[in-house]
Amino acid sequence: MRNILVTGGAGFIGSAFVRHMVARYPNYNIVCFDKLTYAGNIDNLLSVSDEANYRFERGDVATRSAVSRVLRDYHIDTVVNFAAESHVDRSILDPDAFIHTDVVGVYILLDEGRKHGIERFCQVSTDEVYGDIEDGASLEGDRFLPNSPYAASKAAGELMARAYHVTYGMDAVITRGSNTYGPYQYPEKLVPFFTTEAIDDRPLPLYGDGRQIRDWLYVDDHARGVDCVLHFGAAGQAYNLAGENQRFNIDVTRRILDLLGKPQSLIRHVPDREGHDRRYAMSAEKARALGWRRDFDFDTGLEATVRWYQENEWWWRKIKTGEYLEYYQQQYAGRLAAQE
Ligand code: NAD
Ligand code: TYD
Repeated sequence: MRNILVTGGAGFIGSAFVRHMVARYPNYNIVCFDKLTYAGNIDNLLSVSDEANYRFERGDVATRSAVSRVLRDYHIDTVVNFAAESHVDRSILDPDAFIHTDVVGVYILLDEGRKHGIERFCQVSTDEVYGDIEDGASLEGDRFLPNSPYAASKAAGELMARAYHVTYGMDAVITRGSNTYGPYQYPEKLVPFFTTEAIDDRPLPLYGDGRQIRDWLYVDDHARGVDCVLHFGAAGQAYNLAGENQRFNIDVTRRILDLLGKPQSLIRHVPDREGHDRRYAMSAEKARALGWRRDFDFDTGLEATVRWYQENEWWWRKIKTGEYLEYYQQQYAGRLAAQE
């Protein structure tokens, strides 16, 4: 492993991975390849922009010629694919871009990777492929029952990676991460959305009864998990990167408000997300056997995260304009007007 292509490396988790890899492995060349969609943000990579072992290329993973060129020009031997449309609510409003990037994009990366003889492919996937789980914890061999267009597109992407392993012998590994939170997360997801809205004393639109359960993983733990699977995972295998930190949404929301010293009255129960999964939970046993452990418990991670958004308004205020406000209007205006 020497020349690593990190696709989607300007996004939330991808940029944490790039920052981690650039610092930890001075002998690897890290090439970030990112389309810079609404969620991609070059500010996330400012701290590495002058490093000798880091390069940035703008491009679309679903454009064959662009992928082929970057694989060739940088003599890439390893691909780690974070590139995705990643927000469930947007996939409900319009699944199109999800098929483009999360399905076709993964196929193009695999196919061009095979032609260029890459040695390892790591597909970054999600616990959402398992779907809703009433009790217990999902294991890697469990069946897929994705419920949103996002989850289905991610399932399709990783199944293609599996097929390239079985059919063509590609050395592919898969990670399935829990709900991830931390600095530099686009403020449409629960934690950064509610934190930045609460800072401005705006209402927090909690879907339904707020008693849905998510399993939370701090972003740096997720990035180290992908590093671990990349180096030590067995070809053809998937690994759950589970936070094993299950929380009700309402409790996460209350805690954010407490950390900010804001009143609980900012919470508004609004009409539920369509097809909303009640609970995600995974076992991290298999990844632990590779040597991965999360460092952050939820209380420590959430406090560090909330403080980061308080101290880094320069990062998120400029995002909450333009396209963001159009999306907010489409997703929340009707819901807040019809709050339960
Ligand atoms: P994100 O939305 O913050 O970032 C996605 C990145 O991909 C952006 O930089 C965007 O510009 C880039 N991108 C999108 N389409 C592209 C294309 N066609 N070509 C090239 N680049 C493109 O997402 P994230 O939260 O950092 O998630 C990263 C990966 O981790 C995704 O594959 C996601 O499915 C997975 N994941 C996320 C979570 C989570 O809680 N956020 C949990 C488990 C797994
Ligand atoms: P989200 O951050 O969108 O992640 P995911 O859908 O991938 O789990 O949402 C986390 C949980 O928070 C999910 O159960 C939906 C809920 N949620 C709200 O109640 N209100 C919101 O405005 C958002 C964005 C999410």
